[in-house]
Order: sequence, then structure tokens, then C-alpha cells
Amino acid sequence: MATPSTSFALSPELDEAIATAAEAIATADCVVALTGAGLSVESGIPPFRGPGGLWTRYGEPPLDGYQRFLADPERAWRERLNPSEPWARALRETLDAAKPNPGHLALAELERRGRLHALITQNIDGLHTDAGSQAVLEIHGNAHQLRCIACVTRFDPAEFAVDETQLPPHCPECGGLVKGDTVQFGEPIPPDVLEACTQAVARADCMLVAGTSATVFPAAEFPLTVRRHGGRVVEVNPDETELSGLATDSLRGPGGVVLERLLFHVGRTGGAP
Ligand code: APR
Repeated sequence: MATPSTSFALSPELDEAIATAAEAIATADCVVALTGAGLSVESGIPPFRGPGGLWTRYGEPPLDGYQRFLADPERAWRERLNPSEPWARALRETLDAAKPNPGHLALAELERRGRLHALITQNIDGLHTDAGSQAVLEIHGNAHQLRCIACVTRFDPAEFAVDETQLPPHCPECGGLVKGDTVQFGEPIPPDVLEACTQAVARADCMLVAGTSATVFPAAEFPLTVRRHGGRVVEVNPDETELSGLATDSLRGPGGVVLERLLFHVGRTGGAP
């Protein structure tokens, strides 16, 4: 259940800053969004860092998770099918129950109005697609999918029978190892999605960055690239981040409230409804 930040009061100063950013988004040639875990907080999914973050509470996972998978894929699959870590069990339940919030819905509407050309997300929850966004690039994968690490074919688990007596599963297309689509620490970003992100960023003259601490590369590099090209970077985050000093516009508020208000102002400035 989405938990919108109804307690957040939109000040006249913030509303004015949102209206200014909306003008840029309504007139830019190519707007690309970059989202992070903060955007799903209002859908009940904890972020990773900061207050209540998963890594804050349980510590960062090992930075060689992918190497550990390769070393013993059967063990990794048994852990996936029956998580021993309480945080992993809790996260799986939360991901399965989560619904899009007004922030996801506002980004989907901006795309429908032709004001958002691509949406790069670091989130693995699939909520942008659930909200109706189509040009979604899941740079860290999708927790609800499987992927062959050799040919990068992705599978819907509902259509991919996993025989627990024959772990790890192999790809029916090429025989490669199949794992969860979520990109683990130490794992290369799948080449197809990385190339698509690189091309989107190269075209962008405006990047709308929402709900990310902007600390994990290569995603954290994308807004820097847009600024280097002379483009505009609009940051939506209740807190200061590594990106704030570089952002053209810093909209200090929760994604659900700010993005919904941004959509309203884009509509007023001619971003065709
Ligand atoms: N609306 C918008 N932003 C919010 C909200 C909210 N309601 N609540 C918190 N935030 C902000 C926090 O202030 C923080 O800056 O969202 C950001 C979340 O940062 P992280 O938890 O670091 O998440 P993210 O930036 O997506 O992490 C990047 O790190 O561990 C890896 O793979 C993981 O994709 C993840 C990557």
C-alpha cells in the first residue's frame, strides 16, 4: 500500500522552485529521469542508506556477492529459495506487496505527455512499470525476474520452472547459468541496459533525479555527464546528497508530493495533458 507523505507541507518557496523546474522540463528537448530507493519509500520499501535504511540496519552486504554466486551457484540458489537473512525475507515480502505511489504515477504521466524520454532506475521493485512507465531502464535489474548471465536473456519466474533437485538452473537458450536479475555487488551491469542508459544520458539536456543518494556508480555519473554537457539537473530529495551542490534545481521534499506538483506545473506551462 502506498503511504504518501500527506504530513509534508509544501511551502510557497518550494512550490515556486518546483514551478521553475517544471518550466525547464516542459521546454527541454530530451528529459531523462534517474530514480533511486527513496522514490519507493512511500510505497513501503525501505531505502538502503540513511534513517531506516537496509544497510544502515543490517550493514552493507559483501562487495563480492556476485563472485560468491559464481563460486557456489547451487548454494546461492538455495539461499534465494529459502533466505536465511531476516532482512532478505522482509525485503522479499515488502517487494511482493508494494504498489506504485504518486511519485511513480507522476513520472509515468510525464512520459505519456511526451515530457520524459527515458527513465533509468536503480530500483529492482518494478514499480515504475507497474505505474505505467514504458521507457524504463532497470540498471540494477528487477527482483521479479531471472536472467542468464551468459546471453542476458531474461525470464519471468512464472514461466521458468526451477527444479530444486537440479540447482542451479541453466538457460534454455544457451545453457548458461541463470540467476536472479538483481545486479549483485561485484556484478557487471548487463551490457544491453548499460548501453541503453549511456545513449539516453548522451541525448539528455535535462535529468530529473529523484530519490537517490547518488553514491553508486555508474548511475551516479549520469547527472554529472548531463551537467558537463551543459544540461540541467533537477534533484528531488528531502535531504542533501552528493549531487546537491551540482544540481541546477534542488527540490527538498518527498518524491510523491514533489513529482505530483511538478506534473501539475508542467501541465500549466503547456506540457500537453
Ligand atoms: N522521496 C524522495 N527521496 C527520498 C525519500 C522520499 N520519500 N525518502 C528518502 N529519500 C532519499 C534519501 O534521502 C536518500 O538520498 O532517497 C535516497 C536513498 O538513497 P539510498 O538508500 O542510497 O538508495 P539509492 O541511491 O537508490 O542506492 C543506490 O545502492 O546498494 C545499492 O543497489 C543498491 O540501487 C541501490 C544503490
